[in-house]
Amino acid sequence: MTYEMIITETHGSVAQITLNRPRALNALCDQLMTELAAALRAADADPAIGAIILTGSPRAFAAGADIKEMQDKTYPDTALDDFIGRNWEVVTTIRKPVIAAVAGYALGGGCELAMMCDMIIAADTAQFGQPEINLGVIPGAGGTQRLTRAIGKSKAMDMILTGRMMDATEAERAGLVSRIIPAADLLTEAHKIAGTIAALSPVAVTIAKRSVNRAFETTLAEGIAYERATFLALFGTPHQREGMTAFIEKRKPDFA
Ligand code: CAA
Repeated sequence: MTYEMIITETHGSVAQITLNRPRALNALCDQLMTELAAALRAADADPAIGAIILTGSPRAFAAGADIKEMQDKTYPDTALDDFIGRNWEVVTTIRKPVIAAVAGYALGGGCELAMMCDMIIAADTAQFGQPEINLGVIPGAGGTQRLTRAIGKSKAMDMILTGRMMDATEAERAGLVSRIIPAADLLTEAHKIAGTIAALSPVAVTIAKRSVNRAFETTLAEGIAYERATFLALFGTPHQREGMTAFIEKRKPDFA
């Protein structure tokens, strides 16, 4: 597939997908989301790739779903077309870790897209928000649910009911992002993190990601039972033997 609104590149075992619609601040139109879904699936299917970075421009990760594309839609249009459902949730189906590297605006669907990733690292220029209320609607790609789980009810209500933005410092304090990086170093740091993950046991990484995600889907007792069962299952992989033997032999493990 030829991409017009994203750029895909590979650095060693890390795939980088860059949203590239600068004149619209990476507004997430249907074509962009179709391309993004295809690129994510391709990176997930590539055995040489161990982790994926999703990023935007220094000015905007993404300023939301495309308002110009949505303006004239009617309810039958949106329902029959499975609007937002169709391509948006693909990122949550990817097996490999997906890191959102956010600089500038991550608003509306942009914030929701970042929250679908496995972790968000933020440039010190990042601004997060769910301003849909200003458009007479509400977040439609998981914002009311994922933001609430990430930062708690009071702050999520504050963001979603007022439409205000939150800077990187507040986002880190609230638990929305894992780290704040100086803007100029954002991609270098993202690649360091992704490279670290890509060098680990792909089986352990996959199971770890699934197990953390279980925390959002099930009860504590069932989540812990899932963790225990998968932890024990990893003793059936050569990577458990290699990891533990390497520790005892005081060398770096080789999970290749
Ligand atoms: N959709 C379509 N176009 C957008 C856009 C969006 N979400 N956000 C920005 N743009 C376009 C602008 O229309 C403008 O294009 P033109 O020059 O052709 O008019 C261009 O990008 C630059 O934007 P601004 O001139 O507005 O730039 P600014 O620096 O003055 O403001 C901003 C930046 C605060 C991010 C402002 O653009 C803004 O508020 N954008 C909309 C944010 C928003 O409401 N997002 C939610 C969308 S709804 C949604 O996402 C639903 C969902 O949950 C799935």
